[in-house]
Amino acid sequence: MELAKTASVALALILFASTLPAFSVRAVAPPHSAAQQRRANVEPRINALIARMTVEEKLGQLQQLDGDVDGSFRAEHPDLVRRGLLGSFLNVRGAKRVNELQRIAMNESRLKIPVLFGYDVIHGYRTIFPVPLGEASSWSPADAERAARIAAREASAAGVRWTFAPMVDIARDPRWGRIVEGAGEDPYFGSVMARARVRGFQGADYGDPTRVVACAKHYVAYGAAEAGRDYNTTDMSETTLREIYLPPFKAAVDAGVGTFMSAFNDLNGVPTSANPFTLTEILRNEWKFDGFVVSDYESVKELMNHRLADTEAAAAREALNAGVDIEMVSRLYNKHGAQLLRENKLSMNTIDEAVRRVLRVKFRLGLFENPYVDEAREATEILSREHLRAAREVATRSMVLLKNEREVLPLAKTLRSIAVIGALANDQKNLIGSWSADALGKTDNVITLLAGIKAKVGAETKINYAKGCEIACDNVDGFAEAVRAASESDVAIIAIGESAEMSGEAASRSSLDLPGRQLDLVKAVQATGKPTVIVLMNGRPLTINWIAENSSAILETWFAGTEAGNAIADVLFGDINPGGKLPVTFPRHVGQIPLYYNHKSTGRPPDAKNKYTSKYLDVDVTPLFPFGHGLSYTQFRLANLQLSAQRIRPDGRLTASVEVENTGRRAGDEVVQLYIRDVAASVTRPVRELKGFERISLRPGERRRVTFTLTPESLGFYDREMRFRVEPGAFKVFIGTSSVGGLEGDFEVADK
Ligand code: NOJ
Repeated sequence: MELAKTASVALALILFASTLPAFSVRAVAPPHSAAQQRRANVEPRINALIARMTVEEKLGQLQQLDGDVDGSFRAEHPDLVRRGLLGSFLNVRGAKRVNELQRIAMNESRLKIPVLFGYDVIHGYRTIFPVPLGEASSWSPADAERAARIAAREASAAGVRWTFAPMVDIARDPRWGRIVEGAGEDPYFGSVMARARVRGFQGADYGDPTRVVACAKHYVAYGAAEAGRDYNTTDMSETTLREIYLPPFKAAVDAGVGTFMSAFNDLNGVPTSANPFTLTEILRNEWKFDGFVVSDYESVKELMNHRLADTEAAAAREALNAGVDIEMVSRLYNKHGAQLLRENKLSMNTIDEAVRRVLRVKFRLGLFENPYVDEAREATEILSREHLRAAREVATRSMVLLKNEREVLPLAKTLRSIAVIGALANDQKNLIGSWSADALGKTDNVITLLAGIKAKVGAETKINYAKGCEIACDNVDGFAEAVRAASESDVAIIAIGESAEMSGEAASRSSLDLPGRQLDLVKAVQATGKPTVIVLMNGRPLTINWIAENSSAILETWFAGTEAGNAIADVLFGDINPGGKLPVTFPRHVGQIPLYYNHKSTGRPPDAKNKYTSKYLDVDVTPLFPFGHGLSYTQFRLANLQLSAQRIRPDGRLTASVEVENTGRRAGDEVVQLYIRDVAASVTRPVRELKGFERISLRPGERRRVTFTLTPESLGFYDREMRFRVEPGAFKVFIGTSSVGGLEGDFEVADK
């Protein structure tokens, strides 16, 4: 077979899977930092400790148990800690409680090994930021980092020093509810966000008592659940695993992430909580990760449901031997570990290694020196003004203006009357989205859209509020009131979408339509002829074709967190010009899924004039809104694309730049996006791949050149022998404002 670029002429570059250009890599810690010193000193201390531990105490370090939803611990916990049989908790939180248990560990247990408190601090602890998918829509790693930094401050003040975040699963299927917890569909983008979030949680040294150690989850390919059904099986080529699903995990390792969580799914026939290939070969041997891996909730025990193990002892053996160090909630290591040792089905060395990794993280956290949390900090940190201000700012930057016909937005603050309609218009509970950490049941601080609008406009503007219908309602009795409110107003704002529980864990949907009769409500309100603004609140892409066609303005706000209402009002009334972009594709129809921008070409690309091409009879192949899409209240022009070279060597670099100009009348942000296309290669390549982006702010008339650097990591891929390499041949570069269109350039990678 003749190939345009054969492997034989390529200079093999065995590189890591990370696709990050060097320009955005930041050092994890300055030389001779406290972190490095701590790292250097801990290994002898770990050895000394392990030498003194009984088998039971070792297995105790590998056990994590669950507290209650309200953060309290259970009756059996203090004694387990005292006996050294419990190494970490999840859900137990609150400075006082944490200190109480820690005192038992430090004063009453034989070896005085501190316990570690973990919690799902996903997008804030008490000050809730936008859901991660929303935050990712900012296309601003700095904002993601800022949010994680604040979450770490609040969580650590409550004694939580370990977060089960970031979730870095790539999700190409919006039926999967957990798409809301990640950064969307793209591995490069996901890697940038993964690094930013790890940095935000951990800083340069997670030994800082105001930091938490992060956990990259769910390792791995959990987002590829068949049919978008949570916990379902996954099956894929090693190429797809390495190019799509692994990069954000590798990026987290590069950023110094301290822990990993294995997932619930099986991957190519082997459950990921018992998978030596991903847990040991890739994570430890290839990537040199030296932190620990925790299982997901009872995922060790679930190896029996997967039918990988027929007994509890076999499940423990498979997981521990594969490289899962801590068992979350199920207790099979503890129950069967000693027996497995006696039967030579588990070696002491394997147990010691797992214990070593756990102790290493505890040492790095500084827990041996500083086991207690300062109880005074909780009151001052949580929901501080500074944190609320940050939540509001990050939320405004997360919003995506999907459509804005005839400049309906921004609204004037001097309108005589505004109708505020919809199930989500005056809702506090849902606005914090899935994983609300310690804010669950404490939603009094959440600013609703109605409150945000009222605070924004003057007393002379009349607000006509009408709910219309519930989120998933069948009952249309409230429509008449909503229609009346719209008829009596200058403009109608309709807040519609999903409830928080409709996305997140165990929240897959087979339809992406607006639940209940919400679309009918929109139709009824729009029939009044009043200008209408749709405010979407949702945890996944929705199929909103009618709205996209018939409504004048659509603002995607996701679940925007504690300050949601204020932030949305900031954007609706033009105090903030929206600049977010979609980190996921919005399909037209659920039947198009999986639909993602970086797909392959096929031998018969879609062609409307030719029946025998790759398409559907009943729906267009294109998305409703593409990856990277998002508008502004101003306009931008991109011009004058320049490449630093027409030809580079396979190990060379080149820069690509464009001039961006704000041609409108308002200051605003644009996210400039660089995509490449490998024109022909020894394995088929995506039509486009994102390899750089930058969110910039420009004043009216201002012009700036934005430059990206392409490196071998940007241009390489895994060849047929699973070697990462750059092949000679032609490449295209696109620089634009979404994954569609843009300015084009060409260059070539020479033979050598
Ligand atoms: C199960 C979820 O899959 C995981 O994301 C979470 O961290 C654990 N439960 C602990 O709550």
